[in-house]
Formats: sequence, C-alpha cells, structure tokens
Amino acid sequence: MSKPKVYVTRAIPDATIEALRAEFEVEVNPDDRALTKEELKQKVRGCDAVVSLLTDTIDGEVLDAAGPQLKIVANYAVGFNNFDLAAATRRKVILTNTPGVLDDATATHTFTLLLATARRIAEADKYVRDGKWLGWAPMFFIGLDVDGKTLGIAGLGRIGKNVARKARGFDMKILYSDVKPDAAFEAETGAVFVDKATLLKESDFLTLHVPLLPETRHYIGTAELKQMKPTAVLINAARGPVVDEKALIEALDSGHIAAAGLDVVEREPLDDDRLRRHPNILFTPHTAFYSVEGYAEMRTKTAQEIRRILLGEAPRNPVNVLPVPRG
Ligand SMILES: NC(=O)c1ccc[n+]([C@@H]2O[C@H](COP(=O)([O-])OP(=O)(O)OC[C@H]3O[C@@H](n4cnc5c(N)ncnc54)[C@H](O)[C@@H]3O)[C@@H](O)[C@H]2O)c1
Repeated sequence: MSKPKVYVTRAIPDATIEALRAEFEVEVNPDDRALTKEELKQKVRGCDAVVSLLTDTIDGEVLDAAGPQLKIVANYAVGFNNFDLAAATRRKVILTNTPGVLDDATATHTFTLLLATARRIAEADKYVRDGKWLGWAPMFFIGLDVDGKTLGIAGLGRIGKNVARKARGFDMKILYSDVKPDAAFEAETGAVFVDKATLLKESDFLTLHVPLLPETRHYIGTAELKQMKPTAVLINAARGPVVDEKALIEALDSGHIAAAGLDVVEREPLDDDRLRRHPNILFTPHTAFYSVEGYAEMRTKTAQEIRRILLGEAPRNPVNVLPVPRG
C-alpha cells in the first residue's frame, strides 16, 4: 500500500519533519518563498496532509484542488487567520495550529523591552559603540527603577499572565484590566482588577496584551496618554494599531509620558521617520515571538498533529470542529 502524502509549503528544515518521512511520503517546497495560489493548488493535489504557513491562504479553492482524500491542514503557526474555517469544516478537513508555544518568548521579550527601556540599554550601547564614552558623568543615562513599581497590564490573557508572573520577581504591584476579572489569578499573584482609567492613572509601566479588535484599535490614544504619569513607560508587544502613534509621539514630545518600548507598529515594516527617530522609543522589529526553543516546539507540535490524523487519532489542537472527520 502506498504511503499517505504530506506536502510542506515552505522549507522548514528539522529532524521532526524529517521523522515524518519514516511513515509518510513527504514533499517540501525547496524554495524560501511563499507559493502563489496556483502553485499551491498544484502542489497539494493528491495530498493527505498539508503543513501550511500564515502566508498560505487555505480556502475552498485550495481544499478542492487537493481532493477528497485530504484530511488535515496543520498551520505552522499559532495564528490561523489564513484559514477559511467554514470551507474546511464543510469539506470535513481538520485544521490545526500550535497554541502556547510562543507565550514564554513573547512575555520574556515584553519584559526585556520594559527593562531595556527603563534602563536605557539601547542608547547606552550605541554611545559606547560610537566611541563617545570618555568618562563618567553625573547625568549619564539615568534610568528608571523597576523594582517595587506598579505594572499595569491591559489584557490578562496567556501573555499578559506570563508577564505578570515575571513581574513578581521584581516585587511589582500588578494592576490589570480585562473584559472580566480572574479571581484565581488574583489569588495566585495578588494582581488587582481595575478599570481602564485607574490602570492608566496608576501604572508606572503599562504593557498592552489585548488582541487587535475594532474596540481595541487605538486603545491608547491622546485621551488615554493624558491620564498617564509623566514618568510612565508604555510597552506594546501586542499589535501596532492598538496604539495611536501620532498621539504617542505628541505625548512623548510634551512629556505626558516618559518613554515607550515597541515591538509592533501601526504599519510594518516601520516607515514613519518621526517615530523611527524618536529618542524615547526603543524598538524591536516584531520579533517578540521568536525563540529557538519555541520554534522547535512549534515544528514538533505540527508534525505530531499530522501523524495523529493520518494514523486515525484525534487532533490535540483543532481550530475547527468536525461532526465526523473524513475517514
Ligand atoms: N509581538 C508578537 O510577536 C506577538 C506574539 C504573540 C501574540 N501577540 C499579540 O498579543 C495578543 C495577546 O496574545 P494572548 O495569547 O495573550 O491572547 P489571549 O487571547 O490569551 O489574551 C487576550 C486578552 O485580552 C482580553 N481583552 C480582549 N478585549 C479586551 C478589551 N477590549 N479590553 C481589555 N481586555 C481585552 C481578553 O479577554 C484576553 O484575556 C495577541 O492578540 C497578538 O495580537 C504578539
């Protein structure tokens, strides 16, 4: 009997994917680029399973091109906005993702941005590299303390909670705002649920972890920035449009807040010179989720899902619910 066929839409060299070759016939796109829709439709034809990336639109057209034997499309990602869930459910194709693998990296990166912004690490590093360090001076890169300060968390989900746990190591007082309180987490960490106005007013460091939704677009704008402390630091590793950047520049220029650490911006890659050149902003280029270990786990989880489905087991991380999976 011929082996089930697995197509991997982009080269992700890893022993885990290679291990699938022991049981399945695996083909990997050898080029380091996303396939066009037509190429994708052609390559998935006759496959039993597909490993896809966020750059692959998996819709009815692609699923039909694959054929009725297709059982699973496993996204090599936590997000799955490239999936047409209804189209896959109608065709009884299971769609899976890899939740949880990036939480540690994203929360650690968020806390790194917080510490690096408070301690002015990027400016100091540049100063040394530019050969300007000629001796000590009393006003030399005076940073902010973090220990014992108040951390405000907007959106106490997976990442917000992870950041809160790290903040306990710095004896920070934790305030949070969300659509509803979490009594169990409050008991575990001493975090306090507050309304948005209190969060803005009392936070020394405000970190954003809400998803980008119509109601969270410009969650932080002029009115919000005016309520914050002049010494406050804003951290955004959620999504760029959660912050109104024009308002942020004005608030930094007028001294309504002290500094910002941004992993995400409204338009990526960053093309706004006023923002890019602002001395009180520390940037990273949307890299909060990258980590060697997280990526390895993502590959393992993706490969395991393929294996489970092709061997007739139930998926661990389905994103659609099938009444009866394809036999
Ligand atoms: N920078 C990166 O690399 C990176 C990586 C992963 C995730 N993210 C972003 O971080 C966001 C959070 O990720 P997560 O895994 O913690 O998500 P999550 O769904 O676990 O948590 C989001 C939280 O926000 C809350 N929320 C929703 N609307 C709100 C509102 N209007 N006001 C207050 N709280 C609200 C939800 O109730 C939930 O508790 C993601 O949506 C994503 O955009 C960024």
